[in-house]
Amino acid sequence: MNANTTTRPLTIGVLGLGNLGRALAGAFLDGGHRTTVWNRSQGKADELVARGAHPADSPTAAVADADLVVVAVLDYATVRELLLPAAGALAGRTVVNLTTGTPAAARELAAWVTDQGAAYVDGAVYAVPQTVGTASAFVLYSGDEAAYRTHRPVLDRLGEGVFVGAAPELSSVYDTAVLSGMYGLFAGFFQAVALAGTEGIAASAVTPLLVRWLTSAAQALPEFAGEIDRGEYATTTSTLEINQMGLRDILATTEAQGLSTDLLSPLLRLFDDQVAAGHASSSLSRAVESLRGAH
Ligand SMILES: NC(=O)c1ccc[n+]([C@@H]2O[C@H](COP(=O)([O-])OP(=O)(O)OC[C@H]3O[C@@H](n4cnc5c(N)ncnc54)[C@H](OP(=O)(O)O)[C@@H]3O)[C@@H](O)[C@H]2O)c1
Repeated sequence: MNANTTTRPLTIGVLGLGNLGRALAGAFLDGGHRTTVWNRSQGKADELVARGAHPADSPTAAVADADLVVVAVLDYATVRELLLPAAGALAGRTVVNLTTGTPAAARELAAWVTDQGAAYVDGAVYAVPQTVGTASAFVLYSGDEAAYRTHRPVLDRLGEGVFVGAAPELSSVYDTAVLSGMYGLFAGFFQAVALAGTEGIAASAVTPLLVRWLTSAAQALPEFAGEIDRGEYATTTSTLEINQMGLRDILATTEAQGLSTDLLSPLLRLFDDQVAAGHASSSLSRAVESLRGAH
C-alpha cells in the first residue's frame, strides 16, 4: 500500500502498450479503474487517453503514480530496463509482469523486484488482444499470493485468474508446458494440410475434419495424464504397438507424397524405443518415459 492510496482510488500503471498492453489497459478502463499508461513509442496511448487513461512521460512516472504496475513488453530484458530507473519508486507497490519469458528470468526478476520492497507476481495470459476481458480469457499467476489476492478483483477484469503457486517462476513453467502442447498441435496441423495438399485437397477442406477429430482426441488426455502420474501404463485401448504401426504408415505415405517427415519422425522414435524395451502392449502415454530418458 503506498501513500497515494489514501488520497485517490487505486491506480493501475500499465507499462508497454503493444498489442497486449493496449488490450490490458483497455480492460482496466472498461472496469472503471484509474489507469496510467506508458509506452516507448508515441501514439499508442492516444486512444486510451481519449478513453480516460492518464499518460505518463516515463516508466518511473507511471510506477510512481500506481499501486499496481502491470507490465507487458517484448521480453524480460526490457522489463528490467524499464524498472531499473524506477527502483526508488517501487517500494510498497505490486508488480504484475505479464511478459512471456523463461522460468529463470521470472525468478531473477522476482528477486530484484522484491529487493526494492515491492511485491512480485508473474503471469501468463491465455488470450489474444481481442479476447482479453472476455469469458474465454484466463491468466495464470504465481508469486506473492497475498498481493495477488489483494488485486484479484482488478486483475479479473483481464480474464479468470488461476493462481498456480508461490514460486514466482511457476506460471512460466506452466506456460512453457501449455505452449509446448500448442506447438505440437500446430506441428500436426501443418503436417496434415501439407499432406492433404499433395492430392489437391485445400487446407480449408481438411481442417474441419481435423478440428473435429482433435477435439475428440483431446478427451483422452486426462486419462493419459492419470496413467503418467501413477506410472501405470496397462491399457485395453490404445497400445504403443498399434500407434507405432499407424505412425509408420503415416510417415511412409508422407515420404511417398514427397513431403518432409522431420516433424513426426522424432515421435516415432519414442514409440520405437518403448516397443524395443518390451512395452508394446503398454498405453501410448508411456512414450513420455522416453523423453525422460527412461525405458
Ligand atoms: N499479443 C498477445 O496476444 C499476447 C498474449 C499473451 C502473451 N503475450 C506476451 O506479451 C508480451 C507483449 O506482446 P505484444 O503482443 O503486446 O507485443 P508487441 O505488440 O510487439 O508489443 C511489444 C511492446 O514492447 C515494447 N518494447 C519493445 N522493446 C522495448 C524497449 N527496448 N524498451 C521499451 N519498450 C519496448 C514495445 O514498445 P514500442 O511500441 O515502442 O515498440 C511494445 O509496447 C510478449 O511477451 C508476448 O509474448 C502476448
